[in-house]
Formats: sequence, C-alpha cells, structure tokens
Amino acid sequence: MAGLAELLVDAVDSGASIGFMPPLELGEAEAYWRGVFDAMRAGERELIVVLEQGAVLGAVQLMCEMRANGRHRAEAGKLFVHRRARRRGLARVLLAELERVAVGRGITLLLMDTRKGGEAERLCEVLGYTRWGEVPEYARSGDGTLHTTVFFYQRLVNTNVPKQ
Ligand SMILES: CC(C)(COP(=O)(O)OP(=O)(O)OC[C@H]1O[C@@H](n2cnc3c(N)ncnc32)[C@H](O)[C@@H]1OP(=O)(O)O)[C@@H](O)C(=O)NCCC(=O)NCCS
Repeated sequence: MAGLAELLVDAVDSGASIGFMPPLELGEAEAYWRGVFDAMRAGERELIVVLEQGAVLGAVQLMCEMRANGRHRAEAGKLFVHRRARRRGLARVLLAELERVAVGRGITLLLMDTRKGGEAERLCEVLGYTRWGEVPEYARSGDGTLHTTVFFYQRLVNTNVPKQ
C-alpha cells in the first residue's frame, strides 16, 4: 500500500492528469487505493504493477464495464511510471500485460484517454491505438488551466465474442 501511495503522489507531483490535483496527501492516496482494492474484490478492476526489489515502479488498471451490453470493453486507466523509472519501457510492459489480462477476460475493446501533448499521447500512438477524438477543456491540469483530452481505442484480437 505504501509503495502504491508513493507512486500515485509522484505521478500527481509530476503533473500527470490522472484525476487528482496537487498536492496529494499520502493519506488521500492510500484511501484511493483502498477503493481500488474494493473494486478488485468486486471483480470490476484488475491492477497490474511493476516491482523492482520490492519497490513499486509503475501501475496500470483495467477498469471493466459491468453493464450487460458493454462487458466486452474496458478502460485502460491510471497508467503511471515513477519518474525515476521512466523511458525504460515499463509502460509498454504494463500495457502489454494489461492487454493479455483483458483478452483473458474476453474483452475485445480497450479505451484510453490522456492529456493532449502529454507523454502518454505519444505512447498510445506508438502502440498503434486509434485516436477517435479530442475534447477541449476536458480536465484541469495541476497548474489550474483546463486542457484538451485525447481519446483512443484499441481492438483486441483472440475473441469468441461475435461482433455485431
Ligand atoms: C506516460 C508514462 C506512463 C510513460 O511511461 P514510460 O515507462 O516512461 O514509457 P516507456 O518507456 O514504456 O515509453 C514507451 C514509448 O512511449 C513514448 N514516450 C514515453 N514517454 C515519452 C515522453 N516523455 N516523450 C515522448 N514520448 C514518450 C515513446 O515513444 C516511448 O518509446 P521510446 O522510449 O522507445 O521512444 C509516464 O511518462 C508517466 O507515468 N507519465 C505520467 C502519468 C501519465 O501521464 N499517465 C497517463 C495517463 S493515461
């Protein structure tokens, strides 16, 4: 829990647009993770982390759609890699594992959104995610300004789910 909370605080401090405004207190970060664990227990969420000698270097979540007509889709969200471990390919590893887990759950469509101009936008592009739109002034950055959010999807293969 402490490593996950520290990772989240680092991501928010780095200016990441992941739902929180800086400064994020450790207690608030821990409360967030407790909510994630509840969602995991409910079967709605999968958490994938990268560990190195016990330290949490990165994480991503598969947020599954639980409504009856959308169980083939999920969101890849809350992707962050600690600043000290960036540009080592960890986000690629995290997303590859997330896709493997998603396919195992019968998910055929992944959605992801990110701040326009941010590191993750480039990442989605190099991984071949399809950009389907952008919305101006979608979320507030750490500096208080509203920024554009870019939306991507990725179709996953290896499914028995019939397409309509
Ligand atoms: C986005 C983030 C997860 C990338 O993690 P990472 O482990 O450093 O990424 P990787 O090393 O796997 O990079 C994979 C590719 O993404 C692209 N990329 C990653 N960071 C980049 C950057 N700062 N600038 C440009 N391209 C970048 C590159 O194409 C890179 O391939 P390359 O290193 O061979 O050129 C990390 O920067 C981060 O945690 N940012 C803050 C949180 C955030 O914005 N999350 C996204 C919200 S959905």
